Amino acid sequence: MENTVTIHMVASLDGFIARKDNDISWLTSNDDYPQGVTLSDAEIATFLERIDCYVMGSHTYEHALELGWPYGDTPVMVITSRPMQPKRESVQFYSGDLTSLLNNKLKPSYSNIWLVGGAMLVKEFIRLKLADEIIISIMPVLLGGGTPFFDELDIEQSLHLKDVVSYRNGMVELWYEIIN
Ligand SMILES: NC(=O)c1ccc[n+]([C@@H]2O[C@H](COP(=O)([O-])OP(=O)(O)OC[C@H]3O[C@@H](n4cnc5c(N)ncnc54)[C@H](OP(=O)(O)O)[C@@H]3O)[C@@H](O)[C@H]2O)c1
Repeated sequence: MENTVTIHMVASLDGFIARKDNDISWLTSNDDYPQGVTLSDAEIATFLERIDCYVMGSHTYEHALELGWPYGDTPVMVITSRPMQPKRESVQFYSGDLTSLLNNKLKPSYSNIWLVGGAMLVKEFIRLKLADEIIISIMPVLLGGGTPFFDELDIEQSLHLKDVVSYRNGMVELWYEIIN
């Protein structure tokens, strides 16, 4: 099966993915960039339908449950070292080697695999060379502090810019291929 492992995160221009108080109001924007595109609800739904499986760290999972689950019934693999009870049927937990998770469990079953955070897990995927692409959506805001997207990655990684899309609400989406 052909597979793509995509890292997707939303960040502030100063590179944070979460505020210190976990407030998420900055993820929506009232900015107006007339040349930017706007996606209809139907276009967003069609795009999301193509995602076969989400992978996330346990902090992201717990925060998503608090906020109101945005992943529907799409299978979700939560990475944790703790024993956890699933709150939804679509959720499974995994503890162990991440390369083996990808090669033996996810890639044989799912084609379009999305890693949606958080920062801790994203860095592990890049260091282990498990991801093919990074899509980063930059919101028009400086948060001044919080959880950084990348602090010390400890490796250098070359990227190829595949696309840039600017949106009417001031968000800029940068799509990179990871050159492994
Ligand atoms: N802006 C965005 O697009 C975006 C996206 C995602 C998340 N976020 C936000 O970012 C914050 C969470 O990010 P985060 O970096 O703190 O946490 P995270 O990556 O979501 O979760 C970290 C946890 O994942 C587990 N984990 C990571 N690697 C593991 C491994 N190799 N083996 C076993 N378990 C492993 C550990 O769980 P245990 O401690 O349970 O063992 C670890 O404490 C939240 O506020 C969330 O809302 C923002």
